[in-house]
Amino acid sequence: MGFKGKVAMITGASVGIGRATALCFAERGAHLVLLDLNGEGLEKVRAETAAYGADVQIYACDVSDEAQVIRSVAEALAHFGRIDILVNNAGVWRGAKLFGEFTSAEWQRFLNINVMGTVHCTNAALPGMVARGWGRIINVGSVAGVYGNRKMVPYSASKGAVIAMTKALAKEVADKGVTVNCVSPGTVNSSADDDPYAAEVYEDESKAPCYMKRRGSDMENADLICYLASEGAAYLSGQNIQIDGCRRKI
Ligand SMILES: NC(=O)c1ccc[n+]([C@@H]2O[C@H](COP(=O)([O-])OP(=O)(O)OC[C@H]3O[C@@H](n4cnc5c(N)ncnc54)[C@H](O)[C@@H]3O)[C@@H](O)[C@H]2O)c1
Repeated sequence: MGFKGKVAMITGASVGIGRATALCFAERGAHLVLLDLNGEGLEKVRAETAAYGADVQIYACDVSDEAQVIRSVAEALAHFGRIDILVNNAGVWRGAKLFGEFTSAEWQRFLNINVMGTVHCTNAALPGMVARGWGRIINVGSVAGVYGNRKMVPYSASKGAVIAMTKALAKEVADKGVTVNCVSPGTVNSSADDDPYAAEVYEDESKAPCYMKRRGSDMENADLICYLASEGAAYLSGQNIQIDGCRRKI
């Protein structure tokens, strides 16, 4: 599974699944466009990925701000001339409380970052993919978007939208060499430590949400994302793949 000559753009790349995905692509020969709110974190990931010989361009960018996304992608295109792979990973999920306790401003934040961030980045990268007749878009959803997580209603709604967007867009571009898929993690180890929802379910193993009784790793998620971006996955599109250790429908 090689990505020599390909340029992969990854959002939310400073930690967790985004960082692991950047490492995975760099190890396999891709050049990188990394976006995140956290510019310092991106500097660290640039150093880690550059060790593989990748040309890594980083942009401190809020994906929910369309103008910032357009500016960052224009600079990346001026540098590389192409973006072949887009991983829409940036997202917010922390903050568990009951439905009525979420303010409309909090709802807007989930929708603006998780849904509109994906829309803005896709709008910026897709035309070039269509023009070249080759592209891969991988959105990061969540099992919350399939089953619905209690105390995470706005988050669940936002990820449900990402999954539906994946399926609908895949149909529009299926005959243009561009595939669109979604990876939906269960609970992931590296970044879940301060997640009260995960802490609560894992405190008692009998309540663990998956039959494997462990969290997934960021690298397991990154491996699946890289596979979906590969030549071998050319006939796979419009899918939401749950990577959740065989999760209960809680
Ligand atoms: N960690 C889990 O258990 C889990 C489970 C299911 C789905 N997911 C999804 O996986 C993705 C990555 O989550 P994670 O836990 O690995 O990382 P995380 O939540 O720790 O970090 C997300 C990254 O996105 C960045 N980000 C947040 N808002 C942004 C914005 N507006 N613009 C640009 N960057 C922004 C953050 O700075 C951070 O680097 C998210 O979409 C999340 O919803 C995570």
